[in-house]
Amino acid sequence: MNESAAAAARRIGSACDGRVPRVALLLGSGWSPLAAALVPRVELDYAELPGFPALAVGGHVGRVRVGTLHGAEVLLLSGRKHAYEDGDPRAMKGAVQALAAAGVTTLLQTNAAGSLDPAMPAGRLMLLSDHLNLVQASPLVGERDDRRFVDMAAAYDPALAALARQAARQAGVTLHEGVYAWVLGPQFETPAEIRMLQRLGAQAVGMSTVPETILARHAGLRVLALSMITNMGCGLAAESLSHAHTLAGAARAADDAARLMAALLPMLESAA
Ligand code: HPA
Repeated sequence: MNESAAAAARRIGSACDGRVPRVALLLGSGWSPLAAALVPRVELDYAELPGFPALAVGGHVGRVRVGTLHGAEVLLLSGRKHAYEDGDPRAMKGAVQALAAAGVTTLLQTNAAGSLDPAMPAGRLMLLSDHLNLVQASPLVGERDDRRFVDMAAAYDPALAALARQAARQAGVTLHEGVYAWVLGPQFETPAEIRMLQRLGAQAVGMSTVPETILARHAGLRVLALSMITNMGCGLAAESLSHAHTLAGAARAADDAARLMAALLPMLESAA
Protein backbone atom coordinates (compact mmCIF):
# COMPACT_ATOMS: atom_id res chain seq x y z
CA MET A 1 0.00 0.00 0.00
CA ASN A 2 1.27 3.47 -0.78
CA GLU A 3 1.65 6.43 1.56
CA SER A 4 -1.47 8.29 0.43
CA ALA A 5 -3.74 5.28 1.04
CA ALA A 6 -2.27 4.96 4.54
CA ALA A 7 -2.84 8.67 5.16
CA ALA A 8 -6.44 8.47 3.90
CA ALA A 9 -7.04 5.43 6.13
CA ARG A 10 -5.80 7.38 9.17
CA ARG A 11 -8.04 10.32 8.26
CA ILE A 12 -11.08 8.01 7.96
CA GLY A 13 -10.17 6.23 11.21
CA SER A 14 -9.88 9.44 13.21
CA ALA A 15 -13.07 10.93 11.72
CA CYS A 16 -14.85 7.73 12.85
CA ASP A 17 -13.29 7.81 16.33
CA GLY A 18 -11.71 4.49 15.53
CA ARG A 19 -15.06 2.84 14.80
CA VAL A 20 -14.79 2.21 11.05
CA PRO A 21 -17.63 0.02 9.70
CA ARG A 22 -16.55 -3.31 8.28
CA VAL A 23 -18.99 -3.01 5.38
CA ALA A 24 -18.46 -0.45 2.61
CA LEU A 25 -21.09 0.26 -0.01
CA LEU A 26 -20.00 1.79 -3.31
CA LEU A 27 -23.02 3.42 -4.88
CA GLY A 28 -23.04 3.34 -8.67
CA SER A 29 -25.31 5.11 -11.13
CA GLY A 30 -28.95 4.53 -10.40
CA TRP A 31 -28.34 3.55 -6.78
CA SER A 32 -27.74 7.04 -5.36
CA PRO A 33 -31.32 7.46 -4.00
CA LEU A 34 -30.33 4.86 -1.37
CA ALA A 35 -28.00 7.39 0.23
CA ALA A 36 -31.03 9.43 1.35
CA ALA A 37 -31.88 6.76 3.94
CA LEU A 38 -28.45 7.01 5.60
CA VAL A 39 -28.21 8.59 9.04
CA PRO A 40 -24.63 9.87 8.85
CA ARG A 41 -22.24 10.42 11.74
CA VAL A 42 -19.24 11.25 9.53
CA GLU A 43 -18.98 12.98 6.14
CA LEU A 44 -15.76 13.48 4.21
CA ASP A 45 -15.23 14.77 0.68
CA TYR A 46 -12.94 12.73 -1.55
CA ALA A 47 -10.90 15.94 -1.87
CA GLU A 48 -9.96 15.63 1.83
CA LEU A 49 -8.67 12.09 1.36
CA PRO A 50 -5.25 11.56 -0.26
CA GLY A 51 -5.39 9.14 -3.19
CA PHE A 52 -9.16 9.41 -3.66
CA PRO A 53 -10.16 10.44 -7.20
CA ALA A 54 -11.23 13.85 -8.34
CA LEU A 55 -14.58 13.35 -10.07
CA ALA A 56 -15.02 15.04 -13.41
CA VAL A 57 -18.77 14.73 -13.96
CA GLY A 58 -20.63 18.02 -13.64
CA GLY A 59 -21.54 18.99 -10.10
CA HIS A 60 -20.84 15.58 -8.53
CA VAL A 61 -18.82 15.57 -5.35
CA GLY A 62 -17.25 12.31 -4.31
CA ARG A 63 -18.15 11.72 -0.69
CA VAL A 64 -17.48 9.18 2.03
CA ARG A 65 -20.28 8.96 4.57
CA VAL A 66 -20.36 6.75 7.62
CA GLY A 67 -23.53 6.01 9.48
CA THR A 68 -26.54 3.77 9.89
CA LEU A 69 -28.35 2.57 6.79
CA HIS A 70 -31.33 0.27 7.31
CA GLY A 71 -30.07 -0.58 10.79
CA ALA A 72 -26.54 -1.46 9.68
CA GLU A 73 -23.32 0.49 10.20
CA VAL A 74 -21.87 1.18 6.78
CA LEU A 75 -19.30 3.30 5.04
CA LEU A 76 -20.92 4.72 1.94
CA LEU A 77 -18.87 5.78 -1.07
CA SER A 78 -20.77 8.07 -3.42
CA GLY A 79 -18.89 8.66 -6.62
CA ARG A 80 -16.83 6.36 -8.74
CA LYS A 81 -14.30 7.53 -11.27
CA HIS A 82 -14.62 5.43 -14.40
CA ALA A 83 -11.79 4.22 -16.62
CA TYR A 84 -13.56 5.79 -19.61
CA GLU A 85 -12.73 9.24 -18.28
CA ASP A 86 -9.01 9.06 -18.96
CA GLY A 87 -8.35 5.44 -19.85
CA ASP A 88 -6.85 4.66 -16.45
CA PRO A 89 -8.32 1.61 -14.65
CA ARG A 90 -6.50 2.64 -11.44
CA ALA A 91 -8.86 5.53 -10.67
CA MET A 92 -10.30 3.92 -7.51
CA LYS A 93 -7.07 2.31 -6.35
CA GLY A 94 -6.29 4.75 -3.54
CA ALA A 95 -9.87 4.61 -2.28
CA VAL A 96 -10.11 0.82 -2.19
CA GLN A 97 -6.71 0.44 -0.54
CA ALA A 98 -7.56 3.10 2.04
CA LEU A 99 -10.80 1.32 2.96
CA ALA A 100 -8.96 -1.96 3.53
CA ALA A 101 -6.29 -0.20 5.60
CA ALA A 102 -8.98 1.56 7.66
CA GLY A 103 -10.59 -1.75 8.67
CA VAL A 104 -13.25 -2.39 6.02
CA THR A 105 -13.50 -6.11 5.23
CA THR A 106 -16.46 -6.30 2.84
CA LEU A 107 -17.15 -4.25 -0.28
CA LEU A 108 -20.66 -4.18 -1.70
CA GLN A 109 -20.51 -2.68 -5.17
CA THR A 110 -23.49 -1.46 -7.16
CA ASN A 111 -23.73 -0.42 -10.78
CA ALA A 112 -26.05 0.15 -13.71
CA ALA A 113 -25.91 -2.34 -16.56
CA GLY A 114 -27.51 -3.30 -19.82
CA SER A 115 -29.17 -6.70 -20.10
CA LEU A 116 -28.08 -9.34 -22.59
CA ASP A 117 -30.81 -11.73 -21.53
CA PRO A 118 -34.33 -11.27 -22.95
CA ALA A 119 -35.69 -12.79 -19.71
CA MET A 120 -34.07 -10.00 -17.64
CA PRO A 121 -35.78 -6.72 -18.58
CA ALA A 122 -35.01 -3.16 -17.50
CA GLY A 123 -35.96 -2.51 -13.90
CA ARG A 124 -34.60 -5.82 -12.60
CA LEU A 125 -31.64 -6.46 -10.30
CA MET A 126 -28.80 -8.90 -10.98
CA LEU A 127 -26.29 -10.48 -8.62
CA LEU A 128 -22.86 -10.76 -10.22
CA SER A 129 -21.69 -14.37 -10.18
CA ASP A 130 -18.52 -13.53 -12.09
CA HIS A 131 -17.14 -11.07 -14.62
CA LEU A 132 -15.44 -10.82 -18.00
CA ASN A 133 -12.63 -8.28 -18.09
CA LEU A 134 -13.09 -7.55 -21.78
CA VAL A 135 -11.09 -4.35 -21.57
CA GLN A 136 -8.13 -6.52 -20.56
CA ALA A 137 -6.79 -3.66 -18.48
CA SER A 138 -5.73 -4.09 -14.87
CA PRO A 139 -5.54 -1.63 -11.99
CA LEU A 140 -2.64 -3.73 -10.67
CA VAL A 141 -0.28 -2.86 -13.50
CA GLY A 142 2.73 -1.24 -11.84
CA GLU A 143 2.47 -3.26 -8.61
CA ARG A 144 5.76 -4.95 -7.88
CA ASP A 145 5.21 -7.71 -5.33
CA ASP A 146 3.87 -11.22 -5.86
CA ARG A 147 0.49 -10.38 -4.35
CA ARG A 148 -0.42 -8.82 -7.70
CA PHE A 149 -1.00 -12.34 -9.08
CA VAL A 150 -4.44 -12.40 -7.48
CA ASP A 151 -6.55 -15.56 -7.55
CA MET A 152 -9.84 -14.55 -9.18
CA ALA A 153 -11.54 -17.96 -8.83
CA ALA A 154 -14.12 -16.70 -6.33
CA ALA A 155 -13.81 -12.97 -6.90
CA TYR A 156 -17.47 -12.50 -5.97
CA ASP A 157 -17.71 -14.12 -2.56
CA PRO A 158 -19.97 -17.22 -2.69
CA ALA A 159 -21.04 -16.91 0.96
CA LEU A 160 -22.01 -13.25 0.50
CA ALA A 161 -23.84 -14.16 -2.72
CA ALA A 162 -25.85 -16.69 -0.71
CA LEU A 163 -26.80 -13.91 1.72
CA ALA A 164 -27.93 -11.73 -1.20
CA ARG A 165 -30.19 -14.53 -2.46
CA GLN A 166 -31.60 -14.99 1.04
CA ALA A 167 -32.18 -11.23 1.42
CA ALA A 168 -33.96 -11.10 -1.96
CA ARG A 169 -36.27 -13.97 -0.93
CA GLN A 170 -37.00 -12.27 2.37
CA ALA A 171 -37.73 -8.93 0.68
CA GLY A 172 -39.80 -10.50 -2.09
CA VAL A 173 -37.47 -9.08 -4.74
CA THR A 174 -36.60 -10.92 -7.96
CA LEU A 175 -32.82 -11.22 -8.11
CA HIS A 176 -31.31 -12.45 -11.36
CA GLU A 177 -27.79 -13.81 -11.40
CA GLY A 178 -25.14 -13.70 -14.08
CA VAL A 179 -21.81 -12.75 -15.55
CA TYR A 180 -21.03 -9.03 -15.98
CA ALA A 181 -18.96 -8.01 -18.98
CA TRP A 182 -16.83 -4.90 -18.48
CA VAL A 183 -16.53 -2.64 -21.54
CA LEU A 184 -14.62 0.65 -21.50
CA GLY A 185 -17.34 2.89 -22.95
CA PRO A 186 -18.32 5.66 -22.75
CA GLN A 187 -20.16 4.88 -26.00
CA PHE A 188 -22.78 2.14 -25.80
CA GLU A 189 -22.21 -1.13 -27.67
CA THR A 190 -23.13 -1.90 -31.25
CA PRO A 191 -25.71 -4.64 -31.92
CA ALA A 192 -22.84 -6.86 -33.15
CA GLU A 193 -20.96 -6.30 -29.90
CA ILE A 194 -24.06 -7.23 -27.92
CA ARG A 195 -24.37 -10.50 -29.89
CA MET A 196 -20.68 -11.16 -29.23
CA LEU A 197 -21.13 -10.60 -25.49
CA GLN A 198 -24.08 -12.99 -25.44
CA ARG A 199 -21.98 -15.67 -27.12
CA LEU A 200 -19.17 -15.10 -24.67
CA GLY A 201 -21.52 -16.05 -21.86
CA ALA A 202 -22.31 -12.67 -20.29
CA GLN A 203 -25.77 -11.76 -19.01
CA ALA A 204 -25.09 -8.04 -18.43
CA VAL A 205 -22.78 -5.35 -19.73
CA GLY A 206 -21.44 -2.22 -18.05
CA MET A 207 -18.61 0.27 -17.78
CA SER A 208 -17.48 -0.15 -14.17
CA THR A 209 -17.02 -2.47 -11.19
CA VAL A 210 -14.40 -4.86 -12.58
CA PRO A 211 -11.35 -2.69 -11.75
CA GLU A 212 -12.69 -2.15 -8.22
CA THR A 213 -13.30 -5.88 -7.75
CA ILE A 214 -9.71 -6.62 -8.77
CA LEU A 215 -8.43 -3.91 -6.41
CA ALA A 216 -10.60 -5.19 -3.58
CA ARG A 217 -9.46 -8.79 -3.99
CA HIS A 218 -5.86 -7.59 -4.09
CA ALA A 219 -6.46 -5.70 -0.84
CA GLY A 220 -8.06 -8.78 0.77
CA LEU A 221 -11.64 -7.51 0.79
CA ARG A 222 -14.63 -9.78 0.21
CA VAL A 223 -16.76 -8.54 -2.69
CA LEU A 224 -20.45 -8.67 -3.44
CA ALA A 225 -21.81 -6.83 -6.48
CA LEU A 226 -25.27 -5.97 -7.73
CA SER A 227 -26.36 -4.56 -11.08
CA MET A 228 -29.44 -2.50 -11.68
CA ILE A 229 -30.63 -3.36 -15.18
CA THR A 230 -31.47 -0.03 -16.77
CA ASN A 231 -31.96 -1.10 -20.40
CA MET A 232 -31.75 -3.98 -22.84
CA GLY A 233 -28.44 -4.22 -24.69
CA CYS A 234 -28.34 -2.30 -27.96
CA GLY A 235 -30.44 -4.02 -30.63
CA LEU A 236 -32.37 -6.25 -28.20
CA ALA A 237 -35.27 -3.82 -27.78
CA ALA A 238 -36.82 -1.04 -29.80
CA GLU A 239 -35.24 1.74 -27.76
CA SER A 240 -32.42 4.12 -28.42
CA LEU A 241 -29.83 4.30 -25.69
CA SER A 242 -28.76 7.43 -23.87
CA HIS A 243 -27.69 8.36 -20.37
CA ALA A 244 -31.17 9.78 -19.71
CA HIS A 245 -32.76 6.54 -20.88
CA THR A 246 -30.65 4.49 -18.46
CA LEU A 247 -31.58 6.83 -15.59
CA ALA A 248 -35.27 6.29 -16.38
CA GLY A 249 -34.65 2.52 -16.29
CA ALA A 250 -32.98 2.92 -12.91
CA ALA A 251 -36.02 4.69 -11.48
CA ARG A 252 -38.06 1.54 -12.18
CA ALA A 253 -35.73 -0.55 -10.03
CA ALA A 254 -35.36 1.92 -7.15
CA ASP A 255 -38.04 0.34 -4.99
CA ASP A 256 -36.66 -3.18 -5.29
CA ALA A 257 -33.15 -1.88 -4.70
CA ALA A 258 -34.19 -0.20 -1.44
CA ARG A 259 -36.04 -3.29 -0.18
CA LEU A 260 -33.17 -5.59 -1.06
CA MET A 261 -30.66 -3.34 0.72
CA ALA A 262 -32.84 -3.13 3.82
CA ALA A 263 -32.76 -6.92 4.11
CA LEU A 264 -29.18 -7.40 2.98
CA LEU A 265 -27.16 -4.80 4.89
CA PRO A 266 -27.84 -6.18 8.39
CA MET A 267 -26.90 -9.65 7.10
CA LEU A 268 -23.63 -8.34 5.66
CA GLU A 269 -22.83 -6.52 8.89
CA SER A 270 -23.30 -9.73 10.89
CA ALA A 271 -21.15 -11.68 8.43
CA ALA A 272 -18.32 -9.12 8.31
N1 HPA B 1 -24.01 -0.83 -21.90
C1 HPA B 1 -22.96 -0.49 -21.14
N2 HPA B 1 -23.07 0.08 -19.95
C2 HPA B 1 -24.30 0.31 -19.48
C3 HPA B 1 -25.45 -0.03 -20.23
C4 HPA B 1 -25.29 -0.64 -21.50
O1 HPA B 1 -26.25 -0.97 -22.21
N3 HPA B 1 -26.53 0.35 -19.48
C5 HPA B 1 -26.04 0.88 -18.34
N4 HPA B 1 -24.70 0.86 -18.34
